[in-house]
Amino acid sequence: MKLAVVGVGKMGEAILEGMLNASLLERSEIGVVGGRSRRAAEVAELHGVNLISRAQLQDAERVLICVQPKVFPQIAGEIADPHHGYISIMAGVSLETMAAQLGSRRVVRAMPNLAATIHKSATAVVSLEEAEVAGDLGFARALFASVGDVYEIAEPLFNTFTGMVGSGPAYAAIFAEALADGGVRMGLNRKLAIELAGKLLISTGELLLRRVHPSILKDEVASPGGTTVAGIAEIERYTFRAAVIEAVKAATLRGAELGEGK
Ligand SMILES: NC(=O)c1ccc[n+]([C@@H]2O[C@H](COP(=O)([O-])OP(=O)(O)OC[C@H]3O[C@@H](n4cnc5c(N)ncnc54)[C@H](OP(=O)(O)O)[C@@H]3O)[C@@H](O)[C@H]2O)c1
Repeated sequence: MKLAVVGVGKMGEAILEGMLNASLLERSEIGVVGGRSRRAAEVAELHGVNLISRAQLQDAERVLICVQPKVFPQIAGEIADPHHGYISIMAGVSLETMAAQLGSRRVVRAMPNLAATIHKSATAVVSLEEAEVAGDLGFARALFASVGDVYEIAEPLFNTFTGMVGSGPAYAAIFAEALADGGVRMGLNRKLAIELAGKLLISTGELLLRRVHPSILKDEVASPGGTTVAGIAEIERYTFRAAVIEAVKAATLRGAELGEGK
């Protein structure tokens, strides 16, 4: 078995799907281990991969850890093996913590986001040197490239990446919901308002990726004495920017706390 996936919830399944679509591994080369529910069995059946026991983990070359950070201390002892390479997507859990608890210095830390489910994740990766030498980092790069773009981020900035990009889809969704609420308040029907809000986020994102600076984009929409600048004045009155900046800070700090087991 080339890869065992421990924890196949939303993210574990999205990454599994990505690697299968990219033909990174054969289905027979992948095993999945779940928690208390029947989810892992269902995922294994749906994707045609092996449902394996904890004991069978020892047959895996590499282990992808996709459980919640609070579960990690409970399972680390059971899955620890000095011969394995480990790739984790757990928020907050540092490379050194993983290495100490897993008994292997072949550890890669990654942070994808929910867009992995549609192959549009931005994923940060970093590893200890031993994982780079053993090819685990290269494998992880290919793995996460199958669900989107991959960025090498130094570990001290990992919680920041988590707070901004890992959590980011939730902030963007709140903005989209609020925008749709505004449309509904002013008479649009809900379904149309949500569709328009989603399309607006996509098109604005595409404009930003063409290297249009956000402030220039804003200025181009806001004509003198017009509708947009009237809206912008209200956004500034309610300290929207400060709320978003503080959200990223709070999520970053929470990542550090999770890493300390809090
Ligand atoms: N959601 C995101 O947007 C996101 C983004 C980046 C990173 N992450 C990270 O990804 C990880 C997973 O997040 P998620 O959203 O996919 O969570 P999730 O949907 O809650 O999935 C977690 C899975 O872990 C399984 N599990 C629990 N205890 C287990 C055990 N002892 N052994 C094996 N599997 C076990 C659960 O299975 P049962 O239900 O059967 O117990 C569940 O399917 C977290 O560490 C999170 O920090 C999440």
